[in-house]
Amino acid sequence: TQDVYILAIESSCDDTSAAVLHNDKVLSNVVANQKIHEEYGGVVPELASRAHQQNIVPVVHQALSKANIDKKQLAAIAFTRGPGLMGSLLVGTSFAKSLALGLNIPLIEVNHMQAHILAHFIDEPDTPKPSFPFLAMTISGGHTQIVKVYNHFEMEVIGETIDDAVGEAFDKSAKILGLPYPGGPLIDKYAQLGNPKAFPFPKPKVGELNFSFSGFKTAVLYFIQKEVKENPNFIEENLYDICASIQYTIIGILIDKLKKASKQTGIKQIAIGGGVSANSGIRKALKEGEQRFGWKTFVPKFEYTTDNAGMIGIVGYYKFLNQDFTNQTITAKARFAL
Ligand code: KG4
Ligand code: ZN
Repeated sequence: TQDVYILAIESSCDDTSAAVLHNDKVLSNVVANQKIHEEYGGVVPELASRAHQQNIVPVVHQALSKANIDKKQLAAIAFTRGPGLMGSLLVGTSFAKSLALGLNIPLIEVNHMQAHILAHFIDEPDTPKPSFPFLAMTISGGHTQIVKVYNHFEMEVIGETIDDAVGEAFDKSAKILGLPYPGGPLIDKYAQLGNPKAFPFPKPKVGELNFSFSGFKTAVLYFIQKEVKENPNFIEENLYDICASIQYTIIGILIDKLKKASKQTGIKQIAIGGGVSANSGIRKALKEGEQRFGWKTFVPKFEYTTDNAGMIGIVGYYKFLNQDFTNQTITAKARFAL
């Protein structure tokens, strides 16, 4: 086998990231988080693109120096073409094009959603890889999808959200409770101390394998408003139970659809990715699925589940093996189907 070094760049949302891979191994994976969005309670696109502009050069330098390689050793540059925020994608795309031109090496475009899935193929000790075909569920602040994965390049979205992403359901519920952004991890923390059946929230009725979370958020809002009217201390007095009930409902929604997808396709290998896969409730539910339904479940190392360039690099590596390159006329794509 060859020695292929690839530099990967990810800038689709609010994290600026660069990674260097040696074949399917990640040598460095640097992520600069943008703190600026916290005070706004969500990602502000205009601020995100400006921060990418500031971060990209130092992040790439750091990735190269951590990997201890010189840019002259690079075989190709992979970058996230989409989907994502246009202003954010443009920074990574333009940077990748310029560097590839300067170094006179090939350029590889990567679909961010494919990258979340192929993150499972990054070579890591003690991290088993799914075999084909498998189901992938990508759950984060920006995505909620179930994908049937036939091989590294052929995959089919069989279910997705028709409105909010699951991470938004966590974060917006947290905001209603007065918790800081992003509230998903805090809901998870408090949920583990509460009764999941204390407050029943309705599950949305969405057909097929699709999801909807905007009605859920509204249900939480109305419920809290009603209770606080009667008891101004309702949230403080019941915080753990409220969080446990919210988490129980959201995880129930995800697992119901996974069960349906597994039944429909006959596939029992399930791989998850995206920031919400850190959630203790989903991890527990997947373990239960292994016992109850004979599933085999896969969760990548945490640094490869959230937005990161390592996962862009692994797609870059597989595309490099196929000599699947793009040219300098390429443009970013905010909406980019798998
Ligand atoms: O993948 P990610 O870092 O960024 C994108 O959204 O692309 O995911 C962030 C999302 C946020 O909505 C955050 O609240 C959620 O993942 N999250 C969690 C947990 N950790 C992160 N949600 C629930 N429980 C967690 N433990
Ligand atoms: Zn993502």
